Amino acid sequence: MDEYLAVNRTTWDERALAHAASPDYGLHRYIEDPGFLSHVVRFDLPRLGDIQGLRGVHLQCHIGTDTISLARLGARMTGLDLSPVSLEQARRLAERAGPPVEFVEADVYQAVAVLRKEAFDFVYTGIGALCWFPSIRRWAGVVADLLRPGGRLFMREGHPILWTLQDGREDRLLVSEYPYFEREDPVIFDEPGTYVETDVEFVHNITAEWNHGLGEIVTALLEAGMVLTMLVEHDSVPWNALPGQMEQTPLGEWRLADRPWRLPHSYTLQAIKPPGDR
Ligand SMILES: C[S@@+](CC[C@H](N)C(=O)[O-])C[C@H]1O[C@@H](n2cnc3c(N)ncnc32)[C@H](O)[C@@H]1O
Repeated sequence: MDEYLAVNRTTWDERALAHAASPDYGLHRYIEDPGFLSHVVRFDLPRLGDIQGLRGVHLQCHIGTDTISLARLGARMTGLDLSPVSLEQARRLAERAGPPVEFVEADVYQAVAVLRKEAFDFVYTGIGALCWFPSIRRWAGVVADLLRPGGRLFMREGHPILWTLQDGREDRLLVSEYPYFEREDPVIFDEPGTYVETDVEFVHNITAEWNHGLGEIVTALLEAGMVLTMLVEHDSVPWNALPGQMEQTPLGEWRLADRPWRLPHSYTLQAIKPPGDR
């Protein structure tokens, strides 16, 4: 296994348990209410459309909350993730809360080998997903290969501009500190926390991450033969990405407290693989 995968997997494995126990993920809500949907899936319901009966794969499903939500909307879902501990939590939740979901352990770059080429009507991903890939072109090729002709990519992701910003600034300035464009070398972070509230003290804190510009993401998809059908930028994001600088919206998202219109916080992108192959 590549060194960056091993490092990232260790960090995610450790966080998965804390996430499953956290009030922010609130897993009990899925068990108590069979109609409960994750915040992320609910946010995009107007754009998602009818997925009843579709075969879907959720890349980087983590502990399965969005995957199960998509299954609750009628899709036959497979969730894929690198982290076995995340998948253990996801399987446990699906068993207790339903409906059934298949969970598969793999690096996204190996997804076609472990699943099947053109086996899916839609690929769903996002919210802290793309930063784990050294090459966005290779990722786009995987997405296109997983989709049947006519199939659709649906993703909502933190905006690459947001990923450039330094957090924890007491002066509340927006300071672009990290790469916007994809670079060969990853940025190595050593951060003790996570994006949900938890008292857990983590031991493994190193991650290797890459940013990809919005143009690079779109171009990679176009070069993989996909057709862009939606690109909406949002002035909010599902997690508190800049602690001390954000406030919660009535929809439970987070946005800059001071003039949020300065920053694209996140985006929803859809693309289809043209019917009749590429
Ligand atoms: C920020 S989490 C995704 C969170 C998810 N959107 C949610 O809200 O539950 C990132 C996930 O990507 C997974 N991951 C990181 N690199 C990966 C890779 N190369 N292949 C597959 N999964 C990967 C991690 O194990 C982790 O579960």
